[in-house]
Amino acid sequence: TVSPAHSASTASTLITNIAALVTNDPSLGDNSPLGLIQDAAVVIEGDRIAWTGDQSKAPATDNRVDAGGRAVLPGFVDSHSHLVFAGDRTQEFNARMSGRPYSAGGIRTTVAATRAATDEELEANVTRYLAEALRQGTTTFETKSGYGLTTHDESRALRVAARHTDEVTYLGAHIVAPEFAEDPAAYVALVTGEMLDACAPHARWIDVFCEKGAFDGDQARAILTAGKARGLHPRIHANQLSYGPGVRLAVELDAASADHCTHLTEEDVDALANSRTVATLLPGAEFSTRAEWPDARRLLDAGATVALSTDCNPGSSFTSSVPFCIALAVRDMGMTPDEAVWSATAGGAAALRRTDIGRVTPGAYADLTLLDAPSHVHLAYRPGVPLVTGVWRRGQRVV
Ligand code: NIG
Ligand code: FE
Repeated sequence: TVSPAHSASTASTLITNIAALVTNDPSLGDNSPLGLIQDAAVVIEGDRIAWTGDQSKAPATDNRVDAGGRAVLPGFVDSHSHLVFAGDRTQEFNARMSGRPYSAGGIRTTVAATRAATDEELEANVTRYLAEALRQGTTTFETKSGYGLTTHDESRALRVAARHTDEVTYLGAHIVAPEFAEDPAAYVALVTGEMLDACAPHARWIDVFCEKGAFDGDQARAILTAGKARGLHPRIHANQLSYGPGVRLAVELDAASADHCTHLTEEDVDALANSRTVATLLPGAEFSTRAEWPDARRLLDAGATVALSTDCNPGSSFTSSVPFCIALAVRDMGMTPDEAVWSATAGGAAALRRTDIGRVTPGAYADLTLLDAPSHVHLAYRPGVPLVTGVWRRGQRVV
């Protein structure tokens, strides 16, 4: 069959006069992980990248866009968010900023608001936060259930999510539902039984919050193993608030990603470095809970693959901005600007086990971000400045 990208009716577009292009393909560029090309051009055909290289060698196309000597990079891949929710937690944030600690218990506030919301309200919220993210350069995002905690509310959250992305995660095991506070084993049975049956058709991934006050290592193993048996791939909220078994469990189960990774032993770091499980760091959460930063430098130096994502949710990290997370990671987590940009693009793609996004190379989806800056380094160098001035998603200019 002829794909739309190659059908005769598909117009091609040349983006030229790119001062610095991040391809994430070392062989295309300067041999660094970012595969940087100066004075570059990109050709889009349909929803894919057709050509990438030196602008003087660019092929003829139907349309032409002048990047004006600015920087282009792959659209951000936000591989961890919780966008299906209602209400917010302003009071809890305020209390934290006057000294109260963060705990998993706050999730219950959002569960109550989410259960009470109509489908239309949930839909409107997801649409709004996605539009925010897109304006800030995010072209692929993962999102989760986890604020329903009943069979009905979890499966409805996944249906809402699936209208917006293929990267949908079943997180019935976010916390033990309030109704099961006295009988967590019965809740685990629900999450691995009837709720899983209702949710598996709408999701690609299964996730567990493995933490004190949520689920322990044995419960998390049982939940992820049940999900695997139903064709869902595991990812884990691991080692966020304290040391624990989450990271090692992620590696044991070949999870695509262990997320947060704030409290790691040497053994945890070694396990990640010797696996294909990505360490997804979520600095918005440490920012907004005033917690200590995850040590990206230590993970990178050990050889682990690191992704950077927003964790956008109303409790621990109410930001949809990947550029903000890049700036934090560079300032406070020991990452270079190059590493942070790689982690927010190719790293996010690795955390979703995808090779068709997160790079500007022929055959990949044409997901691109144009910055009002001469280099991707400005994402960290100019924190808080809305530098994203153009976004192409699946070949269409959307910003
Ligand atoms: O990733 N850690 C667990 N879940 C979310 C927070 C959820 C909430 O506080 O509402 C997180 O940080
Ligand atoms: Fe999260």
